[in-house]
Amino acid sequence: MRKLIPFNRPFIVGRELYNISQAVIQNTQLAGNGAFTKLCQQWLQEHLGVKKVLLTNSGTAALEMSALLLNIQPGDEVIMPSFTFVSTANAFVLRGAVPVFIDIRPDTLNLDETLIPAALTSRTKAIVPVHYAGVSCNMDAIMKIAADNSLKVVEDAAHSLLSMEDGGRSHLGGIGHMGCLSFHETKNVISGEGGALLLNDPAYFERADILWEKGTNRSQFFEGRVDKYTWVDVGSSFLPGELTAAFLYAQLENAYRINAMRTRICRLYAEQLADLAAEYGLRLSVNDDSSSSNGHMFYIITRSGEERKALQAYLTEQRIVSTFHYIPLHSSPAGRKFGRYSGSLQVTDDTSARLLRLPLYYELTTDDISYVCETIKSFYAAGAQG
Ligand SMILES: Cc1ncc(COP(=O)(O)O)c(C=O)c1O
Repeated sequence: MRKLIPFNRPFIVGRELYNISQAVIQNTQLAGNGAFTKLCQQWLQEHLGVKKVLLTNSGTAALEMSALLLNIQPGDEVIMPSFTFVSTANAFVLRGAVPVFIDIRPDTLNLDETLIPAALTSRTKAIVPVHYAGVSCNMDAIMKIAADNSLKVVEDAAHSLLSMEDGGRSHLGGIGHMGCLSFHETKNVISGEGGALLLNDPAYFERADILWEKGTNRSQFFEGRVDKYTWVDVGSSFLPGELTAAFLYAQLENAYRINAMRTRICRLYAEQLADLAAEYGLRLSVNDDSSSSNGHMFYIITRSGEERKALQAYLTEQRIVSTFHYIPLHSSPAGRKFGRYSGSLQVTDDTSARLLRLPLYYELTTDDISYVCETIKSFYAAGAQG
């Protein structure tokens, strides 16, 4: 029987296991904020060009910290796409805020910046653009709307490590007032669960340290700025342990190589499926531009929801795991309970029903890619498109 091609597979790329043993044997620190945490934070600061980075337990935790740092209060409104992961909304709902969902653009599948003005009210406090598949939102337009209306911008850059804004001026996650990364095992650079909060504005630095360390001024204590540490604010255990950071540092050291491998995989998919896409009117991922995107994802948008269902079932029969993506938040049970939407969400609903993500992981081979593409072609050749 042919080997299964999974959708994702976690991988070791360098010194992950060595680093973990170093954390235990040499550094003898397994709790957070040790040597590997600092190395990871420094690496991210240098390579993303941001002033302060705090590692977190997840992208979700970074988003939750951003909501706390912005002092989001019950009844505040936060504009975001409906086509995103639940954590984008939940982080703000936990503070009592109302997520206001708007539609996405059909080209990049990112929040449609032209729809933001109509969603603004006197209660709007923030905009959360999500850089879907590591492809940049229109940050110039979003930052201008934010500046004109005294709003804060939290970039959900969960997919976007080392992706650049159009034109390659800045790294995604380092443009808004805050940015959030994820190192979940499905991302490019992984630590199982993991994330980071990116900050540029020094006004947030001190409170970020306090929130991160369970609401205490422990960081100031270690820097010798106070003689004992105590409870000074709300906070939580947002920081990961050193084993996670040790694993992550080895991955970060290879981040450019990982992104190059994934970008190559995306390019091979795009090349091998181009003719089929033209013949059958399929849409392929837009992220094959290696200058600005990180090869996070490769997707196909089929002509109908039925066609996607039939294609996915056919791929499963041929031992290829493909997955659809976000179920729109505006129509989900919690989205209806906690949020509201502005305007039509037609592109969101339509895209969500037709998008299929193909296997993409560091160790996916050229043969695997060809097999996936040939299998998709055989599905269409057999006229089985539902
Ligand atoms: C857009 C987006 N934001 C946030 C997250 C949450 O990240 P994590 O799984 O690290 O909590 C995800 C997770 O996949 C995501 O896709």
